[in-house]
Amino acid sequence: MRQKIVAGNWKCNTTLQEGVELAKAVDALVAKEGAEDVVVVLGTPFTHITKVVDSVNTERIGVAAQNCAAEASGAFTGEVSAEMVKSTGAEYVILGHSERREYYGETSEILNKKVALALANGLTPIYCCGEALDIREAGTHNEYVVKQLEETVFQLSADDFKKIVIAYEPIWAIGTGVTASSEQAQDMHANIRAAITAKFGEEVAEGTSILYGGSCNPSNANELFANKDVDGGLIGGASLKAEDFLGIINGF
Ligand code: 13P
Repeated sequence: MRQKIVAGNWKCNTTLQEGVELAKAVDALVAKEGAEDVVVVLGTPFTHITKVVDSVNTERIGVAAQNCAAEASGAFTGEVSAEMVKSTGAEYVILGHSERREYYGETSEILNKKVALALANGLTPIYCCGEALDIREAGTHNEYVVKQLEETVFQLSADDFKKIVIAYEPIWAIGTGVTASSEQAQDMHANIRAAITAKFGEEVAEGTSILYGGSCNPSNANELFANKDVDGGLIGGASLKAEDFLGIINGF
């Protein structure tokens, strides 16, 4: 079902103690002032998940891992499987983030395995897509992003596709302070929704939440979220401050 979602991606930030404090602060603010119709998700490091799950009202706040293994289990030193993530109480997993594609060599083939394992274990993938600056400047961003989806999540059955959330994150806007304009965000989100309609039909497309990510903050969230195809945000830097994150949650 199409929902308004604001998800934080803490990336490789916070010690366990700092993370628990942050989660508690978000939990308290959301309980008091958070827009009730917005699904709130905290994407924490693996090491923090169980404690964060224990520190928040999980009826109100969901917890996400930022990755999971491409294999179910076995001799894969250092990997954390989707089943392990699920067993912590997390409900979501961020997959296909551009930082994982770029720095850890995650290809469409690897991501297909991760998405399948996440779904098989009852996790909701928050599946990221988005173009680099050169592609935006060349004007081929719409085709590029649709191709990223065609190579991966568009290969799912309609029933499985309905279980995922899409996050559009233009790489040139991530951590740069340069946000996509409201118009750029709406254009791409409409492009993605049109591609979903062509592949799975209008009902599935209308039911899919498409989040925007990239230098989203309490000052620009309102303008971005006012667009009809922008269903929320995937938030990096501003999710590390509870009050800023609340400001974004209340940005609809
Ligand atoms: P920033 O909000 O820090 O630009 O990061 C966006 C992002 O990558 C979220 O996944």
